[in-house]
Amino acid sequence: MTNQAIIDEIRRLKAERNACILAHYYTIPEIQDLADHVGDSLALARIATKLEEPIVVMCGVHFMAETVKMLAPDKTVLEPAPDAGCSLADSCDPVEFEAFVKARPGHTVISYVNTSAAVKALTDIVVTSGNACEIVGSMPADEKIIFGPDRNLGSYINSITGRDMVLWDGACHVHEQFSLDAILKLKAEHPDALLLVHPECPRPVRLVADKIGSTAALLKFAMASDAREFIVATESGILHKMQNACPDKLFIPAPPENGGGCACNNCSYMKLNTLERLRDCLRDLAPQVEIDGALAESARRPIDRMLDLSAKLGL
Ligand code: 13P
Ligand code: SF4
Repeated sequence: MTNQAIIDEIRRLKAERNACILAHYYTIPEIQDLADHVGDSLALARIATKLEEPIVVMCGVHFMAETVKMLAPDKTVLEPAPDAGCSLADSCDPVEFEAFVKARPGHTVISYVNTSAAVKALTDIVVTSGNACEIVGSMPADEKIIFGPDRNLGSYINSITGRDMVLWDGACHVHEQFSLDAILKLKAEHPDALLLVHPECPRPVRLVADKIGSTAALLKFAMASDAREFIVATESGILHKMQNACPDKLFIPAPPENGGGCACNNCSYMKLNTLERLRDCLRDLAPQVEIDGALAESARRPIDRMLDLSAKLGL
């Protein structure tokens, strides 16, 4: 079957099922083009609270599907790739995290949305890369805070807000591998290019960035900028929207540690969302996301706090 035939089938099934397709910017271009909404983690969470369709398909990784289910418990939430984990979420075991939190009484626990429901249930406020600095910055300066699981995002928030949050030692395998040397070499070849960096990247890469932000913030910056060339240090899927939104601009994927043999940085988990799996899940109405009721309730609380705080801060 050709890709076009599968795409036609997905469109037909989507209409028949009255389903809404959500996709993260890191999914393959064909899925982004089929989706009703493509966004960063924050936008996707917000959309999840306003869905009209009874069925929603989350093309992303498992914690994103869990978040949608918690925010839209009455919907049938499908995930084409239930095996799509996240190395960052996996770097935070809930049992170990609970011990880490218990060993530091009196701390507010702030967690990145890239966590399991079990870790969210141990959390006071969830943040995404789209609102983390503003939410932490809005807390009293002397508030004691634990931040997990991303040490890179955590140190970035500390540097911007002047806080001294205690950091869990986790990281994302895609963003950890960007090489400063390779980026500087590329920058020498493209002296006018601006460097766009996701805050999950290590500090040396962040220090040479022209813009640091969530996937949505990087896209917005590229669209508004007068520059013609950009080096992009985040997962390569975002280049699809950047190139579509700015056809006259050049977007160059930042090379990974291995020197950029592949000229790309792929999140292998996100790429588990294939056209075939999207079609199959719409056809079979499976796999569905299910979360234990008590766990869902505890894990939703810090997500709701994030959405409330974001709205109050005008984000
Ligand atoms: P965003 O918050 O930009 O969507 O990033 C999510 C993510 O998984 C980055 O690796
Ligand atoms: Fe997780 Fe990294 Fe993939 Fe984002 S890019 S979903 S943080 S593994």
